Amino acid sequence: MIELTTLKILIENTKPADSPLICEHGLSFFIETEHTKFIFDCGHTGAAFLNAKTLGVDLSEINFVALSHSHYDHAGGFPKLLDFAPIKKVFTGENFWEEKFSNEIYRGCGFDKNFLTARGIEQEICHDVLKIDENSWLVGNFKRRYDFETIPTKFLRGEKKIPDDFSDEIILVLREGDGLAIVTACAHPGILNIIADVREKFSLPIYSVVGGFHLAGASQERIDKTLAELKNFGVKKILPCHCSGENFINNFSKKISTGSVIKIFSGGLS
Ligand SMILES: [Fe+2]
Ligand SMILES: [Fe+2]
Repeated sequence: MIELTTLKILIENTKPADSPLICEHGLSFFIETEHTKFIFDCGHTGAAFLNAKTLGVDLSEINFVALSHSHYDHAGGFPKLLDFAPIKKVFTGENFWEEKFSNEIYRGCGFDKNFLTARGIEQEICHDVLKIDENSWLVGNFKRRYDFETIPTKFLRGEKKIPDDFSDEIILVLREGDGLAIVTACAHPGILNIIADVREKFSLPIYSVVGGFHLAGASQERIDKTLAELKNFGVKKILPCHCSGENFINNFSKKISTGSVIKIFSGGLS
């Protein structure tokens, strides 16, 4: 099978020891499907886009971006992307502009809706499932089915600094043939809640799940329950990074980091 979808990690928390690339606490993917090319998340500082050049990604061909949520490590690098790419549209979830805090400290993206408006950039909001092209969708509005997938109380949002339920977070679903791949950024709503919704909404087997699983600091009990349920779901390829935590990542032999080029629908990882 010739795989038509490619994922490149432009930036992530780690990098191979001999790599000339920059790494940082953040996440940014370049996605190429049969029909389109785009960026999913922008990392923190914009260093992802310096890496793009080294990785042979031509950003001048990119005219839209999807931002999973407005935490600094996923959306903070967006203004820098405008130096490289003619961005016309930004996809987000609902309530993207509500400010984010962690332990009362601002952890938001550092720009607001006026920043887009002033530059003539359109915002399109994914309320539930939003089709990007024939084989790509953004998905949000996740049901909370697993009571052990709790959100740390340090995460707050909005003027009133209420507990953040991450109702704004969106993920990416890609399809090739009869299989799906899920690309997740931070998985604050819970990785199992996310996968369960994708199974319900798309009724196709999930071949792979790639990205941040937000299990750093999670109890061993939660990690074990998560691993067991992933097995039940029949996901063949699990490639955690970013906020997934070493205790979780170490359960998998294939490791991904800044610069990884991932074939999400076949065995390859280079
Ligand atoms: Fe986050
Ligand atoms: Fe994150």
